[in-house]
Amino acid sequence: MSDQTPKAQGHPPFEVYIDRETVLRRVGEIARDLAGNLGPEGELPCLVGVAEGARPFARQLQQRFPGNPPVHWIRAKSYGDGTESSGSVTVVEVEQGGIPCGGREVVLIEDIVDTGRTIAALKQHFEAKGATGFRVATLLSKPARRVVEVDLHHVGFDIEDKFVIGFGMDVAQRYRELDHIAIYDEAIEKAHG
Ligand code: IMP
Ligand code: MG
Repeated sequence: MSDQTPKAQGHPPFEVYIDRETVLRRVGEIARDLAGNLGPEGELPCLVGVAEGARPFARQLQQRFPGNPPVHWIRAKSYGDGTESSGSVTVVEVEQGGIPCGGREVVLIEDIVDTGRTIAALKQHFEAKGATGFRVATLLSKPARRVVEVDLHHVGFDIEDKFVIGFGMDVAQRYRELDHIAIYDEAIEKAHG
């Protein structure tokens, strides 16, 4: 999947929530904030993206980050195919040999923070691996949905309690390729056939 994909053709006419230009402008601001927050000797943090949803956001951040550090990938499963979190989070490192972040600060790159359970589980995971710090950059956050309190250091947009799709985010693997953020509406989807 690439966030360069042209606007998906023939998808249901979901309401545009945040257009691509606005998303990219904000990503640029977050990249500048991150780059202005490097360690004392300017050492680069260990960038870790949460697959699959954070891929477009992470790619855009990485491109704007000085030194172009690699992004490592981790999976955290909590949703199955629904739009409600199941409550327990399973963490899997995607890379052979694991993510080399012991003794370094981790900057976790996430698409959206909802209940906060995923971020809490990942923080625990990286602290257990010996990360010296843990910061979170998330494109979206739904504060009204929080169940577990988590510190978010870089937030693209605080949004209302709506299920969103596009720019990497899916419902049951659909609509990740939308180049903007839209509100998912099952009725619109059904009516579209
Ligand atoms: P949390 O553990 O409840 O904070 O859930 C975070 C994860 O749930 C995110 O990484 C997303 O993958 C998924 N998620 C939460 N809300 C949405 C949404 O509105 N659209 C798509 N995915 C979502
Ligand atoms: Mg995610």
